Amino acid sequence: MFYIAPSLLAADFSDLKGEIKRMEEAGANYLHLDVMDGHFVPNISFGAGVISSIRKHTQLIFDVHLMISDPLKYVDSFIKAGADIITFHYECSDHPMDILKEIKAKHIPCGIAISPRTPAEAVIPFVGVADMILVMTVEPGFGGQSFMPECLDKVRVLRREALARGIDQHIEVDGGIGGDNAAHCTEAGANILVAGSALFKSKKPKTIMQQMRMAAKEHPFLG
Ligand code: DX5
Ligand code: ZN
Repeated sequence: MFYIAPSLLAADFSDLKGEIKRMEEAGANYLHLDVMDGHFVPNISFGAGVISSIRKHTQLIFDVHLMISDPLKYVDSFIKAGADIITFHYECSDHPMDILKEIKAKHIPCGIAISPRTPAEAVIPFVGVADMILVMTVEPGFGGQSFMPECLDKVRVLRREALARGIDQHIEVDGGIGGDNAAHCTEAGANILVAGSALFKSKKPKTIMQQMRMAAKEHPFLG
């Protein structure tokens, strides 16, 4: 299955309710929520309070992307706020598998993310274990950056590994994605596309989502 996940970071924060509705009506599946602590990444975004406030306004799947140094310290508050899946970064700890297991023990789906400098091999042990693998296509920390096409090689490696083992692995890509490069992402094997600026800064997000869905249909994994 193919999913589109608008990243709220690019929304007009003075009207989150309206912005979320706009994405829902345009055909979004997930709402990607970028949490930044000013420590793991050099930027601060929003936390569990904001997520809890918007939870009552939408049925979209809350895809919480934690760019924070100590995910275990805060995971309960994000579950309480209404997260549907929580993704943390491989690079935040020397023991990411332990973190994944602790989060999953709380009966919430858990994903693992890798930044551009982390090789695919680092998360091979997470294939079939993590509910999602998030391959960043920009340096985490800011929206509106340019897509790094070289990161898609890692998506290919992970999709091949999953297929070889008969695993229907969710692989998400995030950063600099829009209608123009969606096909490259789906051909590489991604099935969840995050897009911030491309959707929220557009007056016609529905058209862009249609382009993305077309990409998934006409440009499936190349192998
Ligand atoms: C970057 C975030 C992304 C970002 C995507 O650290 O993880 O989710 O908001 O925004 P665009 O699509 O504008 O690159
Ligand atoms: Zn993100």
